[in-house]
Amino acid sequence: MTDQSPTQSSYQAEYERSMRDPEGFWGEAAEALHWDRRWERVLDDSRVTPDAPFYHWFSGGQLNTCFNAVDRHVEQGRGDQPAIIHDSPVTNSKTVITYAELKDQVARLAGVLRGVGVGKGDRVIVYMPMVPEAAVAMLACARIGAIHSVVFGGFSARELATRIDDAKPKVMVAGSCGIEPNRIVAYKPLLDAAIEAAAHKPEHCIILQREQGPCDLIPGRDLDWASTVADATPLDCVPVEATDPLYILYTSGTTGQPKGVVRDNGGHAVAMTWSMKNIYGMAPGEVFWAASDVGWVVGHSYIVYGPLLYGCTTIFYEGKPVGTPDAGAFWRVIEEHGVSVLFTAPTAFRAIKRDDPNAEHLKRYDTSKMRALFLAGERCDPDTLAWAGDNLGVPVVDHWWQTETGWAIAANCIGIEPLPIKPGSPTKAVPGYDLQVLDDQGGPVAAGDIGRIMIKLPMPPGCLPTLWNNDDRFIQSYMSVQPGYYLSGDAGFIDEDGYLFVMSRIDDIINVAGHRLSTGGMEAVLSSHPDVAECAVIGVADQLKGELPLGLVVLKAGVGRGVEEIGPELVKLVREQIGPVAAFKTVLVVERLPKTRSGKILRGTMKSIADGKEYRVPATIDDPAILAEIETALSKAGYAHH
Ligand code: COA
Ligand code: AMP
Repeated sequence: MTDQSPTQSSYQAEYERSMRDPEGFWGEAAEALHWDRRWERVLDDSRVTPDAPFYHWFSGGQLNTCFNAVDRHVEQGRGDQPAIIHDSPVTNSKTVITYAELKDQVARLAGVLRGVGVGKGDRVIVYMPMVPEAAVAMLACARIGAIHSVVFGGFSARELATRIDDAKPKVMVAGSCGIEPNRIVAYKPLLDAAIEAAAHKPEHCIILQREQGPCDLIPGRDLDWASTVADATPLDCVPVEATDPLYILYTSGTTGQPKGVVRDNGGHAVAMTWSMKNIYGMAPGEVFWAASDVGWVVGHSYIVYGPLLYGCTTIFYEGKPVGTPDAGAFWRVIEEHGVSVLFTAPTAFRAIKRDDPNAEHLKRYDTSKMRALFLAGERCDPDTLAWAGDNLGVPVVDHWWQTETGWAIAANCIGIEPLPIKPGSPTKAVPGYDLQVLDDQGGPVAAGDIGRIMIKLPMPPGCLPTLWNNDDRFIQSYMSVQPGYYLSGDAGFIDEDGYLFVMSRIDDIINVAGHRLSTGGMEAVLSSHPDVAECAVIGVADQLKGELPLGLVVLKAGVGRGVEEIGPELVKLVREQIGPVAAFKTVLVVERLPKTRSGKILRGTMKSIADGKEYRVPATIDDPAILAEIETALSKAGYAHH
């Protein structure tokens, strides 16, 4: 650890105030925004019962998120300031959009949406690559009170169809293609296939044609973005209830059916604005860069809403940390656009470190404007943390959060007071979060002991009020294990100094290159193959991506073909059904899978074996001999090395 902080730190004071007086704390934070009608209650718990843990923030208040993120800044003199910089090494182009230009584009697209019948509360699915038009589409929805749902471009048509059927969008907004370093990804065939497969049929698709991969439009259904926007009448912002949904973002749950995380307007805008200053230490006018994708929660919160609500310039980077063209790409962007704070996933730094271990590329660039690096999305290994800190010479802040919360639960709030860094820890609970580690019976654990990481209700503004159209799943997934607490799904401990350590998931979620995926979802795909009798997918440790999925399958009796033929079929199936982002590339055929006497597959034990870790033979195992068979199969395939 570095220097000690004063005993009564301002972090401590802020944290305690947020616990003692949440209404005073968040009511004060909300003053930073423009409200069309002031709230009646900061924290509305009037309808909360033990069976219905539905808290609402800023009830009675009205505002418009788009007005606060765009128009307000134009009115306050930021019209000429860059709002979005699109830096796209994959198309060799750079574009700057000022706040005034952004307002015009958003107001026009809002006009197009209204023209095709989209109104308050209607859903719009956005399926786009990392182009500024993705933000324009999100903000245009917010402008008219429609609810957007952005779907990541690396997902398959089937995943898109699932989301269409759940969100039931009136309109889709899509790009004609995305650009990966090794190929053009045609989005339009995926969009068409998804609409074909879905039971719900959106009325219209607004298509952004990209010159790298234009597409055919279906007359009557599809509209060309450029020409319709050019002809559209710009629309003003419509006030919405603070508690109205701003967006739905689907994330992996423990089944193949993703969870539609809902975000409200008021609490979200307050939390985003507060976090930009207090967590990230930003000031309006500065440049913030979240190197992620708009399809993930990081993209929603810190490529689009956070920086824009706070009057910063945000960067849309359409490229990779390495290979576009080299491991100096991040340093170039930082120098060229004067980035103050960079936010990315540890995997990006592992990729850079792998290609350029001595950080030679860094010598070519001036990164002196950068004040801090924030990492999240997966556990940050201390080596990567040290490499980044030593080479960049700035604090490297690991922070922990989830799609559900929308912003950091634990962080080093450098805008309040930088605390000493402990490698391996995302530091302490952020003000607003009553973070606790509980045992299986719901009792507190001693400092340093591992348990379930829970958040005592109410959660602060910005966190999910529920799941889309599914209050029951919301309660059952997050609130039923321990009434009065939110179950994060992560396990870990809090040490004697109050520092959190996040160690693992307690469910079947794995984290591949900072992307959250359900192994249960992949198992469902493998099981659908006619030759597969049963299967298990586990996340095995990977030096670059943190974890990679590995499929273990048992073939049906009498299947004459082996893994050489069936393996590639299964890999293709997961790619088609879930998407390339699953990075599912390895299948092993085994004779049997280890199970408990009650028939539960011992995935955790197989994962320990694959990772070469010590493991205990579970007392409930049906046939311990199977573990030796699995160890042999894994070791032949290059795993299970101690
Ligand atoms: N549209 C279509 N396909 C996409 C896609 C998109 N938007 N994004 C990724 N894919 C594809 C990739 O092309 C790749 O396909 P392949 O199997 O044909 O090679 C696959 O999905 C896996 O992609 P990715 O996880 O990005 O792996 P990679 O090997 O291409 O790159 C890293 C590895 C580490 C460089 C990359 O994961 C990265 O930059 N990570 C940064 C972290 C990040 O953005 N995290 C998000 C949460 S903060
Ligand atoms: P997502 O909802 O995609 O943001 O994924 C959230 C999950 O990623 C968390 O529940 C954790 O399992 C993991 N995660 C995110 N940030 C961190 C972190 N800083 N340290 C450890 N795990 C993390």
